Amino acid sequence: MIGILEERISEVLFSREEIARRVREIGEQISNDYRNGSAADKRGRPPVLICVLHGALVFLADLVREIPTEIEYDFICVSSYGNGTSPGAVRLIKDLERPIEGRDVLIVEDIVDTGYTIDYLRRGFNARNPASIRICSLIDKVPRREAPVNVDYAGFTLEDDAFIVGYGMDYAELYRNLPYIGVLKPEFV
Ligand code: PRP
Repeated sequence: MIGILEERISEVLFSREEIARRVREIGEQISNDYRNGSAADKRGRPPVLICVLHGALVFLADLVREIPTEIEYDFICVSSYGNGTSPGAVRLIKDLERPIEGRDVLIVEDIVDTGYTIDYLRRGFNARNPASIRICSLIDKVPRREAPVNVDYAGFTLEDDAFIVGYGMDYAELYRNLPYIGVLKPEFV
């Protein structure tokens, strides 16, 4: 199955090994930061990692196993339906299962592109009075940014506008199971 998908990839941007190395580094950084002052929860509860479905699932699964300190995680699902008249419009599909009031929230994304999704989530979470909100994204695609978003933990920064898939990222729901991140050949887009 992977073989069929691989034939449609023109270039591997980040290999399985590169991703694993970077995820390990980010996990270490997160563990250290929250132990050494980033935690603001007055009751000393562990941070809550919030996985933005569906793209961030693979990243979250690997990331949490690189964090040896106490954490919790929860899931949210949103969908963007922005168009010419309402660019950046985002719709909530599935909400968190537990309250985040007073908690340290770390939003986990596969990619921040225009920034509209993260902006929507951050505003929504802010209204629930968490102790802190930070953003972790495996890919920070800077050139297409439209909403003012700062990524606190970025795996890789993309300076060009390549259409990438794999490691959770899809094109028409396919390619999420590729173990690396690659560029889709134009004839398959
Ligand atoms: C992707 C990605 C982010 C969002 C980033 O999700 O997972 O959530 O787009 O784009 P933005 O910064 O321009 O808002 P998508 O809506 O494709 O859904 P998916 O996670 O299910 O693939």
